[in-house]
Amino acid sequence: MAKPRHNILILNGPNLNMLGIREPEVYGLQTLTDIANDCQEYADELGFDVDFRQTNAEGELVTIIQQARGNHAALIINAGAYTHTSIAIHDALKILEVPVIEVHLSNPMAREAFRHTSYISPVAKGTICGFGGHGYILALNAVRSLLDEG
Ligand code: DQA
Repeated sequence: MAKPRHNILILNGPNLNMLGIREPEVYGLQTLTDIANDCQEYADELGFDVDFRQTNAEGELVTIIQQARGNHAALIINAGAYTHTSIAIHDALKILEVPVIEVHLSNPMAREAFRHTSYISPVAKGTICGFGGHGYILALNAVRSLLDEG
């Protein structure tokens, strides 16, 4: 039987719209548009549709997560700096009943101490960090496996 074509939400938080310009020695030269295009292409190969979003606003991230209920089969999230501060995003993710994969371009555990706490990790299925933009592709593979497992 043909697999259903799931829609995956990929959500990006503050300052990720500045990739390519922002601290390239940490985040690389790929822009968020480059990453979005790679994700769209790869997701298509995996049989997914992808909704790729970015916002700098914490409340908007919460609203988008709330709206994912019933509309998306999984969420891949890079919450940027809100990873380390946002109880509101943590709470919103707890309400969501689909797998959540946390992604970071850099490896926050190898950076400043204030990046060592994640409010996303306790409510995520897993975390992929330190692989640059390729982390999003790894996350899509993780989602494929999770959905295939049922
Ligand atoms: C980041 C890591 C965060 O600590 C930082 O605030 C970001 C980007 C990453 O993708 O490596 O904005 O989430």
